[in-house]
Amino acid sequence: MTQKTITLTDNTSGKSTDFDVLEGTHGPGCIAIKNLYKDTGYFTYDPGYGMTGSCKSSITFINGEEGILLHRGYPIDQLAEKSSYLEMCYLLLNGELPTDTEASDFNSTIKTHTMVHENIRDFINGFRYDAHPMAMLVGTVGALSSFYHDSLDINNPEHREISAHRLIAKLPTIASYCYKHHRGLPFMYPDNDLDYVQNFLHMMFAVPAQDYVQSPVAAKALEVMLILHADHEQNASTSTVRLAGSSGANPFASIAAGIASLWGPAHGGANEAVINMLENIEQSGETIATTIARAKDKDDPFRLMGFGHRVYKNFDPRAKIIAKLCHELLDDLDGDQPLFDLALELEQATLNDEYFQERRLYPNVDFYSGIILRALNIPMNMFTVMFAMARTVGWISHWMEMHNDPEFRIGRPRQIYTGPAKRDYPS
Ligand code: ACO
Repeated sequence: MTQKTITLTDNTSGKSTDFDVLEGTHGPGCIAIKNLYKDTGYFTYDPGYGMTGSCKSSITFINGEEGILLHRGYPIDQLAEKSSYLEMCYLLLNGELPTDTEASDFNSTIKTHTMVHENIRDFINGFRYDAHPMAMLVGTVGALSSFYHDSLDINNPEHREISAHRLIAKLPTIASYCYKHHRGLPFMYPDNDLDYVQNFLHMMFAVPAQDYVQSPVAAKALEVMLILHADHEQNASTSTVRLAGSSGANPFASIAAGIASLWGPAHGGANEAVINMLENIEQSGETIATTIARAKDKDDPFRLMGFGHRVYKNFDPRAKIIAKLCHELLDDLDGDQPLFDLALELEQATLNDEYFQERRLYPNVDFYSGIILRALNIPMNMFTVMFAMARTVGWISHWMEMHNDPEFRIGRPRQIYTGPAKRDYPS
């Protein structure tokens, strides 16, 4: 097959240059511009990198036009229905579903790493009582680099793997400690007789005086939530992990950078913002119509939280799964049915609205995830922590993939300089 090329012609000089078009398994081709400056003397300008492929990746595929999400080739709805979170972790890290033996070995390995160094408990206790759990999480994950010196050699594949396992295993422990510290409750050690999800619920909700009575419905809802948030290709936080890691930063520091990026309301903070928005509509007497009118008003910075996505110009397939989960489990979980009904009403109103239709703004994963998390008694300021816990496997899988990529080099975008022209310092 002949190599497909695109020709770029400079209207000033008349010079034409050919660029190769690279094709992946699915998706549109990408124009390879590595030699653009050398061949033409120009850079590209792409604020927000919306048109820029920064790497080759075999982990996740998204078709935003059609609302398709595949992990290692498997559709997200099939994974949510048939897989478990730990199996998903294995798949993202290793590229294939585990055999029974591999699954059992992986489970045992993760269990050996669930505890954290006792000093990490002291470290978390050093935060102010009213610190936001995300502030504690970003600091504590970064601080792991100061504890696990035996797995920090990024050029050693075994070290990289141990760090990945440690992060997946310890995130639920650290997340629960951030919550316990915030509430002034005693930390609970992990219980390795429980599975990954049950263990997290135990560390969150048990106290030394009273065990947590496991609910299979709650565990199932949380398992699906974790699966749905496990990876999403080159989003802001994953790209941040890759960029931070591209300088050779250790895995704990790189993941802490990803957590910081996730924190913003345009990314992982949206699920908290959605509940605030819905509650505000309920309590302020504002109607759905006035809320939508505000979202459309260009003089008002307000946006409809949980709507729109950089890549999905159709329903986010994860939103469909969570909405179904809300329908199935909300009663059993004793969740906030009126809030869910309000969300459905808001969704319906936007689907019939020209502004949202024209801009192809549909509910994203976070529009419904907060409703499920609330039904699980997870407090709102822990929502983004839950997202970070689920996404850690995605981040570390991309970090590992980057380190195995022969084309990997430090990430360094360019700019259009618009400052003052060169001038002399006043004499
Ligand atoms: N409410 C109202 N208008 C919106 C919304 C919204 N939620 N989202 C986008 N728009 C409008 C913009 O004003 C813009 O209109 P214009 O063309 O008239 O100027 C148009 O739609 C395109 O919007 P952009 O900002 O260019 O889209 P972008 O891809 O940069 O942003 C984003 C995507 C950040 C998700 C945006 O849709 C948003 O802010 N949504 C609300 C926050 C949210 O839900 N974030 C979670 C994302 S999913 C996740 O991280 C898991």
